[in-house]
Amino acid sequence: MPVSVVVGTQWGDEGKAKIIDLLAESHQIVARYQGGHNAGHTVVVGKEKYALQLVPSGVFYAHVTPVIGNGVVVDLPTLFKEIDTLESRGVTCSRLKVSSLAHLIFPWHQAHDAISESSLGENKIGTTLKGIGPAYADKSRRVGIRAGDVRDATRFKQLVRDRAVAEQKILTALGGENLNVSEIVDNFAALGERLKPYVSDTVNFLHDALDRDENLLLEGAQATFLDIDHGTYPFVTSSNPIAGGACAGTGLGPRDITRIVGIAKAYTTRVGSGPFPSELLGELGDKIVDIGREFGTVTGRRRRPGWLDLVMLRHAVRLNSLTEIALTKLDILDTFTTVRVCVGYELNGKELAGYPDDPQLLGQVIPKYVDLKGWNKSVSAVRNYSDLPEQAKALIELVEKHVGVPVTMIGVGPERNECVVRK
Ligand code: GDP
Ligand code: IMO
Ligand code: MG
Repeated sequence: MPVSVVVGTQWGDEGKAKIIDLLAESHQIVARYQGGHNAGHTVVVGKEKYALQLVPSGVFYAHVTPVIGNGVVVDLPTLFKEIDTLESRGVTCSRLKVSSLAHLIFPWHQAHDAISESSLGENKIGTTLKGIGPAYADKSRRVGIRAGDVRDATRFKQLVRDRAVAEQKILTALGGENLNVSEIVDNFAALGERLKPYVSDTVNFLHDALDRDENLLLEGAQATFLDIDHGTYPFVTSSNPIAGGACAGTGLGPRDITRIVGIAKAYTTRVGSGPFPSELLGELGDKIVDIGREFGTVTGRRRRPGWLDLVMLRHAVRLNSLTEIALTKLDILDTFTTVRVCVGYELNGKELAGYPDDPQLLGQVIPKYVDLKGWNKSVSAVRNYSDLPEQAKALIELVEKHVGVPVTMIGVGPERNECVVRK
């Protein structure tokens, strides 16, 4: 199993980091392939809880080299703050490699994110305001500045100054804030110097590791239905979280990938705007949010709760070529009398054949549910599949039957070892 991908199958926060941390034990490299500090990846090791935004979730193992791949957009102040916090807690980050081809985020990206959101008014995306979309837009416009550019300090400074001056004109025209150009140039000159030792040719590094038969784990951020192409556009992020994005975002080829693990919560959550067929607006939703502590790691926003949606999950199996599913946060449903699972959509009295290609329709469909009996006991101590309550097994078997791939891991708590791994 040399190259594994971990991908979110819903709208993010499925518990990807917890599963990556678990799998990282048997891997030599963990590489992030897209997104930026919009991600909030929580790893719990014993009593210690870490919230990561840019540093790959394999960093807690001394034998793992964490890599920020070329598909990631990197906010340097956040990266260094994260490194400093981790190191102050005894987690060494000196092994970290940042792709020379990864694009950098600058203050004007955040300014554009804010202007774009406020101009959309009620139709806003509900972004994390981290400048992710504008940074990827600059990459596509071919005016981005990349990590490798810091290698030549004089040129890097000039690139930052030129872009800052050009962006100032655009921001002024849009009625946005004034950039302090010389302060930005000086700050980024210092940040660039600090980045230098981390900048690497990660593409050849990953291929060389494959040649040595090492195991690589590719870490997705966000999720399938936040994908810029396949998600609920325009209420998406600006990258390709789907497994296909792992190739573009690391430089590995499709044939290198052998295992693709889709992470799904036993229910669903979504942060920000956009359609959500199985959304729960009442007390049951509040119960999920309370027990599951469903508040964003990055922005603190309340996550919108809903039932598990197997129409979406089946589509995620297709889009990502999933070889297996990890079902997380099963324990959050411990006290529910009934556990509902969406197994189909109806539109205008007719059943849809599958996930619709128009996100507008997703806002109009009526979900069809199967009601399962709850198990009404704690599953947190369970480590063997056979010890799970029959009702919980019924949920897992329904998932497998409906989407056609096995559920190989079941999360029963936030900690590293709180997981049922099926052999
Ligand atoms: P990610 O963005 O997909 O990595 O997920 P987040 O870290 O944003 O959110 C998942 C949250 O659920 C974190 O607080 C995790 O510690 C927690 N978590 C992950 N798996 C489980 C699980 O199986 N049970 C419980 N109770 N919590 C979990
Ligand atoms: P992880 O990796 C949940 C959502 C935002 C917004 C939309 C676009 O922790 O699962 P952006 O700032 O990316 O332009 O915002 O995407 N979003 C996430 N939601 N988990 C995330 O990351 C997210 N990253 C972005 O809330 O709706
Ligand atoms: Mg998260």
